[in-house]
Amino acid sequence: MILPVIENRRSVREFSAREVPEEALLDLLRAAQFAPTGMNNRAVEFLVLRGREAKEKLFLLLEPKQPFVKEAPLVIVPASDRRKLQIPEPNRSIVAAADLAIASSFIMVQAVSLGLGAVWKHVMAEFTPRVAEAFGLAPEFLVINAIPVGYPARQPEPHKESEFSPARIHRERW
Ligand SMILES: Cc1cc2nc3c(=O)[nH]c(=O)nc-3n(C[C@H](O)[C@H](O)[C@H](O)COP(=O)(O)O)c2cc1C
Repeated sequence: MILPVIENRRSVREFSAREVPEEALLDLLRAAQFAPTGMNNRAVEFLVLRGREAKEKLFLLLEPKQPFVKEAPLVIVPASDRRKLQIPEPNRSIVAAADLAIASSFIMVQAVSLGLGAVWKHVMAEFTPRVAEAFGLAPEFLVINAIPVGYPARQPEPHKESEFSPARIHRERW
């Protein structure tokens, strides 16, 4: 049953100083790489930032500046190669943003089951080129977010049943 894990996934923006073990990082990236991709393109790759300078660089690039980007022990930046947009082929994506969002979701859910917390830090479209340039990605890569990860400074409240709204469900027609 994965619902309890999903209920416990909250955006975590304050982290303890404890490092994220490499094995836990690899489990996050396993979850991401087992996520579905359009036409099974598997074009999502991952920039992993652990060093203070690299995280500071990313923090300074993004708006609004949110300190958790540099304070988290680990930041994952999923990136999808969207070259050859019109001609789908292996390792190239024609649905890059959707692929990135699903991979990111899997990372954030897997984080919970490892006792970790994470948050989606959005990268606005106009910021993607500067992120690519600063970190050496080819300009054809799409980046839509960065995911700071770490052990939560305090345990967040899980989602509650009261947040579930049957009024948002439309059956057969709107
Ligand atoms: C597409 C998207 C963009 C987001 N961008 C940011 C962001 O830039 N900074 C931030 O602090 N949180 C960001 N969030 C996190 C949301 O604020 C958060 O998911 C929402 O408030 C619900 O809280 P929860 O994640 O604890 O359930 C983003 C979430 C999504 C899905």
